[in-house]
Amino acid sequence: MFQILTMLLVEIQLSVVSGKTETALFTVEVPQQLYVVEYGNNVTMECRFPVNGSLNLELLTVVWEQKRQGQLKSKEVYTLRNGKALPPSQDHDYIGRAALLHSELKLGRAVLQITRVKITDAGSYLCLIEYQGVDYKYITLEVKASYKRINTQVIRIPAEDKFVFICQSEGFPLAEVFWRNEKNFNLSGSANTTYTLTADSLYNVTSTLMFKPNMSENYSCVFWNKELSRETSAHISTLALMSRQHSGQKSLILFIVPTCVTVAVLSSALIIFQKRKSSKDGHPKKDRKRKLNPNLKDENRDDLNSQTEALYLSTITASRDSGSVGL
Ligand SMILES: *[C@@H]1O[C@H](CO)[C@@H](O)[C@H](O)[C@H]1NC(C)=O
Ligand SMILES: *[C@@H]1O[C@H](CO)[C@@H](O)[C@H](O)[C@H]1NC(C)=O
Ligand SMILES: *[C@@H]1O[C@H](CO)[C@@H](O)[C@H](O)[C@H]1NC(C)=O
Ligand SMILES: *[C@@H]1O[C@H](CO)[C@@H](O)[C@H](O)[C@H]1NC(C)=O
Ligand SMILES: *[C@@H]1O[C@H](CO)[C@@H](O)[C@H](O)[C@H]1NC(C)=O
Ligand SMILES: *[C@@H]1O[C@H](CO)[C@@H](O)[C@H](O)[C@H]1NC(C)=O
Repeated sequence: MFQILTMLLVEIQLSVVSGKTETALFTVEVPQQLYVVEYGNNVTMECRFPVNGSLNLELLTVVWEQKRQGQLKSKEVYTLRNGKALPPSQDHDYIGRAALLHSELKLGRAVLQITRVKITDAGSYLCLIEYQGVDYKYITLEVKASYKRINTQVIRIPAEDKFVFICQSEGFPLAEVFWRNEKNFNLSGSANTTYTLTADSLYNVTSTLMFKPNMSENYSCVFWNKELSRETSAHISTLALMSRQHSGQKSLILFIVPTCVTVAVLSSALIIFQKRKSSKDGHPKKDRKRKLNPNLKDENRDDLNSQTEALYLSTITASRDSGSVGL
């Protein structure tokens, strides 16, 4: 990978020694030394070289190489040798993502475009150009990823009357997570923040806060990206807590309702049994019922029982709902 560079450097030295001034005059310039790009975006990095008149493409060689911090080996990002692209030598990481903007070459600009920038694209880029001489420069690329999308989750622990708030997001570099309530009271002390690395080298940060919430407040988790000086936050409102509690109550209702149905059925059976018994003894109970509901006919006794049941159930449902609103 370094072969081209070594070869050309030898050439440069030879020409300097032999005093060929025209070669020594050939210099590569960088209009921008540092590029900072957001993960997933595109970046174009530029090196300039002198073109005397119209460009003779066949004499032009452009090499872009990347070296990550702390790594010895360079990766070949893009190579144009004597006017022709050399795709087989391109590092697989850059296949389909790195290109030289050919239309810019005649203006003396070797513009490298990298699309869908990854965290691993960060590092030092060498651009080496040979055209009536040879020279090179380095450009630095930094890649950042803000914790844009924060996923939130609320879990209730009914036994302890506590809630677990979870905020999870991905970004780079590693963010700190703070928790606070509306009055900016810091709750981070009781939070547990962990992270893993994704396949794309992003930090996958998960912060968990377990506590007894004050229902009249909103809570937020804040992802603080120190190097980007940027914070993103998600809010867990009391409304969300309410709806969570509703779903909690619903599962409770699912348990209560069948229990009540059973009780109702059993008591109806008992009532019917007693009525049957009393109808044999005369009709005193039936008369009382008639007063309550004059339209009721003797034949509709079973309907009455099912109506009572339905009423019973709706009362329970309503009371559970109002109970959870009051919480
Ligand atoms: C990146 O470049 C590609 C190809 O040129 C283009 O399709 C895409 O829209 C660009 N993306 C952004 C975020 O500019
Ligand atoms: C540029 O081109 C002109 C004519 O084409 C030539 O005379 C001159 O020496 C060239 N300069 C360099 C630096 O190559
Ligand atoms: C934080 O969470 C991790 C993983 O869930 C666990 O191993 C660790 O013990 C927790 N730390 C504290 C202080 O709760
Ligand atoms: C991030 O971590 C969470 C759990 O901590 C997991 O559910 C999620 O799939 C992870 N995301 C990625 C992109 O690795
Ligand atoms: C809960 O919030 C109310 C009103 O904002 C406040 O008066 C009360 O002190 C808070 N309680 C706790 C335990 O933070
Ligand atoms: C909590 O936030 C929601 C919207 O985010 C807002 O409607 C509500 O009034 C807030 N609650 C309190 C107690 O401030």
